[in-house]
Amino acid sequence: MSTVIQVTADVRGTLASFLESQSYTQLAVIVDENTKAFCYPLIKDVCPNHILVEIKSGEENKTLSTCEKIWQAMTDAAFDRKSMVLNLGGGVIGDMGGFCAAAYKRGIRFVNVPTTLLSQVDASVGGKLGIDFGAFKNHIGFFKTPEAVIISPEFFRTLPGRELRSGFAEVVKHALIADRKQWSELRSSSFESLDWLEVVPYSVKIKEGVVAEDPTEQGLRKILNFGHTIGHAVESHLLHTDRKVLHGEAVALGMICESYLSFKLGYLTAEELKEIEQHLDSFYPRIALEEGELEPVYSNCLQDKKNEGQIVYASLLEKIGQANYHQPLNKEMILDSLRYYLK
Ligand code: GLY
Repeated sequence: MSTVIQVTADVRGTLASFLESQSYTQLAVIVDENTKAFCYPLIKDVCPNHILVEIKSGEENKTLSTCEKIWQAMTDAAFDRKSMVLNLGGGVIGDMGGFCAAAYKRGIRFVNVPTTLLSQVDASVGGKLGIDFGAFKNHIGFFKTPEAVIISPEFFRTLPGRELRSGFAEVVKHALIADRKQWSELRSSSFESLDWLEVVPYSVKIKEGVVAEDPTEQGLRKILNFGHTIGHAVESHLLHTDRKVLHGEAVALGMICESYLSFKLGYLTAEELKEIEQHLDSFYPRIALEEGELEPVYSNCLQDKKNEGQIVYASLLEKIGQANYHQPLNKEMILDSLRYYLK
C-alpha cells in the first residue's frame, strides 16, 4: 500500500480526518520532551483514546534500549496487532517509532507527523526505519512505509532557528541532485522569505520521485545520499564529543567535500563548486576539525551503507541538478576533500 503524504496548514483538521478514516484498537503517540511540550498540545485532543510514550530526545537515544521502553509501554497497555503508532517528532522519533511499530508483533501500522523541516522533507518519506548501533547511524533497520505522513509548517514555530536551518540542508540537497531550477530559486530567495507551504511539498516531491523508482535503494535512490558519506562520518565522529553538530550541518560539510570531489573527477565546473560553497557557507559556519581527527572520520566512512567490500562508494554531482552514484572514493580522496573544506 502506498503512503498518503499530505502537506497542510491545518495539522489538527488533517490528522483528525485521517484518524477517523482508520480502524484501530489502540493508539500510541510517541514524543520526546520537546515535542511533548511544544507539539503534542496542538494535536492532543484530536487523538482519541491514546497512550503517550515519552522518550529522551537526541540521536544518542536512538538505540535498542529506547526501543525496549517503547515496546514495554505497548505491551503493558496490551497493544494488539490492530493497534497503531503515531510518531510525533523529528527524524529520531520517526525512524525509531516506525522501527518499533514495524517489529512489534511482526508489525503494526504507524503514521508520521514530522515536526522538523529535516524530517518533513527527508526521514518521513521513503520508509527507511532504524536505530543507531554504537557510533554507526541507522546501522540496524529495515524498509517499511507508514500509513500516512502528515506534514505541517505550523510546527516550525516550535523549532529553534538552528534546527530549521539544519533541515534546510536537505532541501538544498534535493535541488542539487535533481532540480537546477529549484536550486536557482533557492539561491535567489532569502531564508526568511521562503514560503514553506511551497518549498516543503516541492522538496518532498523530488524525494518521492526518486524513491518511487527505487524504493529499497538498489541504485538510483543512492543519489539521496549526496553529502552523506562524509557528512555522516563527521556527524558520527562528533556525536559523543562536546562539539556535536546537527545532521544538516554535517551534511552541508559533506556536500562541500563531495562537490569538491565531483569537481576533481571532472564533473562539476570550478564555477559550480564555488556557487555551491558560497550558498552553503551563507547558512552554515564551517565545522572545525583537527588534522588528527581526519583518520577517525575516514574510518567512519568505511561503515557507510553504500559501501561494498572495503570500498567506499559515494553519490556525487554530475552537474548542478543531476547526481550519479556508485563512485568509488579512496582514502586519499576523502582526506583531500576534508583538507579542502578545512583550508
Ligand atoms: N535519506 C536518504 C533516503 O531516504 O534514501
